[in-house]
Amino acid sequence: MAGVANQNILLGVTGGIAAYKSVELARLLLKAGARVRVVMTEAATRFVSPLTFQAVTGSPVRCSLFDEEHEAAMGHIELARWADQMVIAPASADFMARMALGLANDLLTTLCLASASSIAIAPAMNQRMWQHPAVQHNLSLLEERGVRVLGPESGEQACGDTGPGRMLEPADMLAALDSASGAGLFAGKKVLITAGPTHEAIDPVRFIGNRSSGKMGYALARAFRRGGADVLLVSGPVSLPAPPGVNRVNVQTALQMHKAVFENIHSVDIFVGCAAVADYRPENPQQQKIKKLSDRMDISLVRNPDILAEVATLEEGPYTLGFAAETQNLVENARAKLLAKQVDMLAANSVADGMGFESDENTLLVIWPEGEKHLPVQDKQQLAESLLGVLADQYRRDE
Ligand code: PMT
Repeated sequence: MAGVANQNILLGVTGGIAAYKSVELARLLLKAGARVRVVMTEAATRFVSPLTFQAVTGSPVRCSLFDEEHEAAMGHIELARWADQMVIAPASADFMARMALGLANDLLTTLCLASASSIAIAPAMNQRMWQHPAVQHNLSLLEERGVRVLGPESGEQACGDTGPGRMLEPADMLAALDSASGAGLFAGKKVLITAGPTHEAIDPVRFIGNRSSGKMGYALARAFRRGGADVLLVSGPVSLPAPPGVNRVNVQTALQMHKAVFENIHSVDIFVGCAAVADYRPENPQQQKIKKLSDRMDISLVRNPDILAEVATLEEGPYTLGFAAETQNLVENARAKLLAKQVDMLAANSVADGMGFESDENTLLVIWPEGEKHLPVQDKQQLAESLLGVLADQYRRDE
């Protein structure tokens, strides 16, 4: 793992109440062995004084492009060259928009253009602002350009709202920067992920299926893409857009998902089965809507193929990460599933208490033949990044 030790980190701070958390981030980065320089936007200085960052980092803080004294000591181009990594925390909606446009109308936006280093942003804003199509569009543009996005988290906000838009906690941000150091962890790898539910038709208007929003599988697709992988997402019916740079094949049923997976599996390095595939389908789906003529209706069901188990037992198949959704005896059932399906790794989640399905947050018990790791409750995107950290360690050992 690359880690932040001995790295030159340029910490950009933009205007938002979360700016106070970045003081702690600067402290943690220094403690982890990084060298830290801080650049603040004019709006950021309204929330935290540059002196606070100067006291923590022991280095002068820069706020203006036109500062003769600072330019004489270290010019802005030199500063851009100095940085091994840039981290913008918090990244406001305004800053993301200026960055997406490629503006250079203050020191920090200029540095983003002038630096060849990797850039990570930790967005922080009101939940409605975060969900606004303009912000999401800017986010996609930035991601397409390789900007790494840390968070945001979902929860209570300073403005009193609840929802996505809260900046990651400094310790989580450090872990994210430290573990993957982002780009390149899966560079050159081809990853196939199944996500969402499958719908098995009873008649043209009714189906049986499992609960799944697709959030976890899509978060994994985004995380693998950020790690440099070539990602194919085979998705059941969900209402999520494909993450930037991810190829998606849409399917409805387990049989269609099975076909899409096996048409593509042979060139794949890592297979992730996150879909909530229906284990059974109606034996005789009706062509016309079934009329309500009697008080009872019996539907005969037949087994669907087990996509994950079939992939895991392929000769010279890919590394396989399966999921297990359990309502009881999580550890025992997950260990049994790991063996039964012969997968390399299994991420088990309890779906008994409102967690797992559809929610924005989740917790996972990740197991493999020789070990296990518990990933605590966190936003699904963050959870996906943590899971990839665990997977990368084991995958490299098996390679
Ligand atoms: O989509 P979200 O709302 O974000 O919710 C995420 C999730 C709860 C759906 C996800 O975290 C999860 O647990 N996915 C697996 C759900 C599931 O079907 O679990 P299972 O224990 O029934 O299946 C075990 C594994 O076999 C899974 O990897 C599943 O994809 C795979 N499987 C199951 C049946 C089948 N016919 N083919 C399969 O490939």
